[in-house]
Amino acid sequence: MKADLIVGIQWGDEGKGKIVDLLAQNYGVVCRYQGGHNAGHTIVVDGRRVALHLIPSGILNPEAVNVIGNGVVVSPKALIEEMAQFDNLEGRLLISDKAHLIFPYHEEIDRAKERLRGSKAIGTTGRGIGPAYADKVSRQGHRMGELEDIEKLHQKIMDYFETNRPYFQALGVEPPEGERLKEELKRYREALLPYVTDVTQYLWEVLERGERRVLLEGAQGTLLDIDHGTYPYVTSSNTIAAGACSGLGLAPKDIGNVIGIAKAYSTRVGNGPFPTEDHGLDGERLRRQGNEFGTTTGRARRCGWFDAVAARYACRINGCHELALMKLDVLDGFDRVKICVSYRYRGEEIDYLPSDLEGVEPLYIEMEGWESVQGIDNYRDLPKGARAYIEKLEELVETPISIISTSPDRKDTIFRKERP
Ligand code: IMP
Repeated sequence: MKADLIVGIQWGDEGKGKIVDLLAQNYGVVCRYQGGHNAGHTIVVDGRRVALHLIPSGILNPEAVNVIGNGVVVSPKALIEEMAQFDNLEGRLLISDKAHLIFPYHEEIDRAKERLRGSKAIGTTGRGIGPAYADKVSRQGHRMGELEDIEKLHQKIMDYFETNRPYFQALGVEPPEGERLKEELKRYREALLPYVTDVTQYLWEVLERGERRVLLEGAQGTLLDIDHGTYPYVTSSNTIAAGACSGLGLAPKDIGNVIGIAKAYSTRVGNGPFPTEDHGLDGERLRRQGNEFGTTTGRARRCGWFDAVAARYACRINGCHELALMKLDVLDGFDRVKICVSYRYRGEEIDYLPSDLEGVEPLYIEMEGWESVQGIDNYRDLPKGARAYIEKLEELVETPISIISTSPDRKDTIFRKERP
């Protein structure tokens, strides 16, 4: 059996939470493969709000096993807090022994570096994501499996501070106090070690047996990918579908259906280029109607029109078989809606995404708006303008739109094809 995959095709916050939550009911295993507690969505279940940052959305399905892959950077503190929302996680949560750890000093480094960048700050979530991945790549990180031997891990962390002393001094980051650190590590070991295992081996066996369907849940979005996004204004992991292979130990042949998630318009949090950003009334209206404020940091999101050039690029790079179009209802009531179909770049009109988006100018087509799609759950019942908009997007991004969301409610979703 192959694993299906869900990936954001814009700058994150596409509304993956609702789709993963809807689909996760049909999957026996749900996995995260990159990112950390910079991601986040809140799901309301039976009137109870559940905030998820690290634990995959399958946790709401009592039958599902949830996997945190080696490609994820895990703050033990954040994970333990998140786990406290659920009873009885035994057998329902597995954490890769190869996943790297985020310690409080990574968060301090993250914030200190942002301060030093001044007006060129990336606008990170301040969760220590970049510094933890930097330690991993520079081969001085600490991994989940090391919680097994606290004495050894403790010594390694103290040595790490010793080796990097000038760097930490320059950033004003204090080394952890020895005894306090040891106590903290003991707490982490007690709370987390029972869940730590070789998740790659586990997934190979699950796929081989073929009894449980596997869903891979991407965090953030394609345009925040460390290699293929709007560098350097990106996150520090491979957010694209390919990241699922390295972030879980799967082979390309293990990946089945790839579902891209797009919002019916665009948003971005943090700094960096955003060609279709609207600084005027339309942007403000999208923010208000779409309630575009971050779940993790509460920051107001920058808003603008759908960028079909960037979306086509994202569909290609992820190999999306289909798209879910989220928050279509947020465009309700606009007289005209705009779609960016090409860019003006260095004096020429282009229809591809250049590696540097600085100075790119969007070129739009305009279409007629519609009154309301709120709560509609059948494609035929959508207003003519909304259907024309969707069909235009499909043509421009060269990918079928098979799921359409018309309100935050689970039931207000249009499925245009039978789902297994
Ligand atoms: P970091 O991942 O905290 O290092 O932040 C790097 C960039 O990615 C910043 O622009 C963040 O706003 C953005 N980012 C990180 N996580 C998310 C997310 O879950 N949704 C949207 N943007 C994110």
